Amino acid sequence: MVNPFLETFGEKTSSAQPTALVICGATGDLTQRKLIPALCNLAEDGYLPSQFVVIGAARRELSDKEFIAHLKEGVDKFSRRKISDEAWKKFAKNIFYHQLRFDHPDDYLALKVKLEELSDTRKADFNYLYYLATSPNFFGVIAENFDSAGLISSDQNSIHKTGIVVEKPFGHDLETAHDLNEKLRKHFAEKQIFRIDHYLGKETVQNILAFRFSNGIFEPLWNYRYIDHIQISVAETVGVGSRAEYFDATGVVRDIIQNHVLQVLSLLCIEPPVNLDADSIRDEKVKVLKSIRRFSAADVTRETVRAQYVSGFIDDKQVGSYLDEKGVPTGSHTETYAALALHIDNWRWSGVPIYVRTGKRLPKRITEITVYFKRPPEALFRDLGFQSMEQNVLAIQVQPKEGISLKMNSKPPGPKMRVQPVVMEFNYGHSFGVPSPEAYERLLLDAMRSDSTLFTRDDEIEESWDILDPILNVWENDNVPPLYRYDAGSWGPKEAATLLRKREHRWRRL
Ligand code: BG6
Repeated sequence: MVNPFLETFGEKTSSAQPTALVICGATGDLTQRKLIPALCNLAEDGYLPSQFVVIGAARRELSDKEFIAHLKEGVDKFSRRKISDEAWKKFAKNIFYHQLRFDHPDDYLALKVKLEELSDTRKADFNYLYYLATSPNFFGVIAENFDSAGLISSDQNSIHKTGIVVEKPFGHDLETAHDLNEKLRKHFAEKQIFRIDHYLGKETVQNILAFRFSNGIFEPLWNYRYIDHIQISVAETVGVGSRAEYFDATGVVRDIIQNHVLQVLSLLCIEPPVNLDADSIRDEKVKVLKSIRRFSAADVTRETVRAQYVSGFIDDKQVGSYLDEKGVPTGSHTETYAALALHIDNWRWSGVPIYVRTGKRLPKRITEITVYFKRPPEALFRDLGFQSMEQNVLAIQVQPKEGISLKMNSKPPGPKMRVQPVVMEFNYGHSFGVPSPEAYERLLLDAMRSDSTLFTRDDEIEESWDILDPILNVWENDNVPPLYRYDAGSWGPKEAATLLRKREHRWRRL
């Protein structure tokens, strides 16, 4: 059955052209956990082009058969629905392995030969899509070698259209992100580069635009006159698992806020774009990012909190402290929790604080955007003994529950005039009756169709680093505010509550 979620995008559902997807770093976790299960689900839904091949490229020597067996384990474990043996066999006929040592130009020439042979045997003119699921250290050399091997076409109308998909992290700060952009742009035009932020592939995140601009009732209220403040929370129960080396060099600001949180924030706060084209939307997102106030050292002390977890309990199970996780260096100062009070200095959002927080080892896995509206005048109800009326709260739940709820005040039945908050809910599952596709399904399909709407443009990336660099510099160089501690299984350090209390706000209980 074709998935109606994808159908709603109208003309964008037209099938992608014949595609050869080359995944560099294909023996890693991402390919097995996310990419191949996503491709299988796209195949099940009838979205893959009829001519499609995947070439897994990585340093180690492997046969096609070994590679396919490794991928099958991943599909059995991680696919959002069961893929039958029959469907897998059919899909696996399109999977190949190629040994690619990233700094060996000859391996790229051999890849070219392989791609040409596949074109001949399959009688297909493939577009080439290169997916870099490798450390960013290799992006430059890989792009360079693809180019020298004649595997990149700058003419997007030529037979072999080429594109490149790159995974995060995209840089460590503004300078490294800029360098990376330069390296890629030496070989690819911006419209050929697809920078992944998997949050943009989530249905609920895509729905922000539909919700804001296809309903007449919210947009007039979507500004400083009616909105008191906004909260964005990305909470995780997991620790760092097997990724200590990556995580310790990164921290949650670079891992989550620089990309996922700022992307969600910019969609939530953009002006109506002139149309739904990739660049029209991204132009507006960049304006939001540009308008986010850059912090002085004093702002960093006042408006940010960072912390690291110590041992505690999650779901009644004891978990160790960050410093005891395997692979974390002794005395590490990496933050596993961060909360920031951001401000957008433009006409629409003047004076509306936007609080963002994210943390590992929090009590629940939940991502939510919460919009608090200003209170109505209370004169009428004051005599009923209310200290203060509850605010209307619009909550967009990104995961694990997908939906939107609106809290409003209402009179409970009975002879007395009273006011009590009630919640009106929209739930994806109930309303649409189909499970949402995984983020990677949508993103892979869009990259195959050369649609960049859900990918981050070079200037978005650089603006987001420009916002965070001053914060990270003060944290790292001046050590203020200090790195607080919080118990695993708690909602973070008490200083995060103080950050909001200064403006008489409170974090939403999730
Ligand atoms: C990734 C981060 O980008 O997002 C991980 O590197 C994090 O550290 C993950 O756990 C969260 O993604 P999701 O989709 O589970 O919210």
